[in-house]
Amino acid sequence: MSNLTNQDDSNVLKPPYDSVKQIHTTELGRFQIRGPIAPEILCQYQLSDGLNCFRPSKRQHEALIELAKQEDGLIFAATLATKIISYVTFQKPEFPWWIKRCFPKLLELGSMETDLSWRNLGLGKTILDTIFLNSSFNFFDNFIVIAVHTVHSWDLKTSCLDPWSYRNIMLKMFKQYNFVPWETEDPEVREHPCNILLARVGTNICSEEIKHFSNCCLGVNS
Ligand SMILES: CC(C)(COP(=O)(O)OP(=O)(O)OC[C@H]1O[C@@H](n2cnc3c(N)ncnc32)[C@H](O)[C@@H]1OP(=O)(O)O)[C@@H](O)C(=O)NCCC(=O)NCCS
Repeated sequence: MSNLTNQDDSNVLKPPYDSVKQIHTTELGRFQIRGPIAPEILCQYQLSDGLNCFRPSKRQHEALIELAKQEDGLIFAATLATKIISYVTFQKPEFPWWIKRCFPKLLELGSMETDLSWRNLGLGKTILDTIFLNSSFNFFDNFIVIAVHTVHSWDLKTSCLDPWSYRNIMLKMFKQYNFVPWETEDPEVREHPCNILLARVGTNICSEEIKHFSNCCLGVNS
């Protein structure tokens, strides 16, 4: 039987599966916002066809299942019946700059995507509200969560937005969850003027940890 409590020693980092589980009713349907989702449960959902921004949806579904199996991988999603319509992922940082400088209190918001035909209807923000503005779920208060925004990861093509407009939308959206820009020497961020490192410092992070993070951003202590 699968371990749905997720509290064994190899997975101490993760909050229990479905720590977040809420119904979100809209004119367009009754969504369930849930996470972190157990890999076994993720397998039972289909990924909606319009979730193909990073990979074709079938391959992205497989990638999400693999990530959910990792000891640090967290998937939160908005589901409608048997389909995932929108998701947000977290893990230990995968960007080369941060792999070298990772520390225990650091997590990365890896990707976020809403099905093309369901965008701009508030689903992305509903998931983020449930994760970051939820008094009964304070897991992320114990971490510095980074979000490395690069023009490569944005859907400029179908949104018809220019990089600066897209950047502004991202900045505005993430600011509501206390993600703010941090100066960094990370060459991947510096390679395009629109790229940006955002970070959310959890309320339980102390000043020494913030200083350490700031030094990591600038490559001072490497
Ligand atoms: C970014 C993304 C996940 C947002 O998901 P979503 O479900 O459409 O988000 P919401 O409907 O909650 O909207 C979030 C904000 O973006 C704005 N927005 C979304 N799409 C927009 C568009 N095409 N034009 C202008 N504003 C837009 C909304 O107005 C809202 O703004 P607010 O914070 O001022 O209220 C979605 O656009 C997407 O999948 N993009 C492709 C992948 C990507 O770029 N991911 C982000 C980097 S990993």
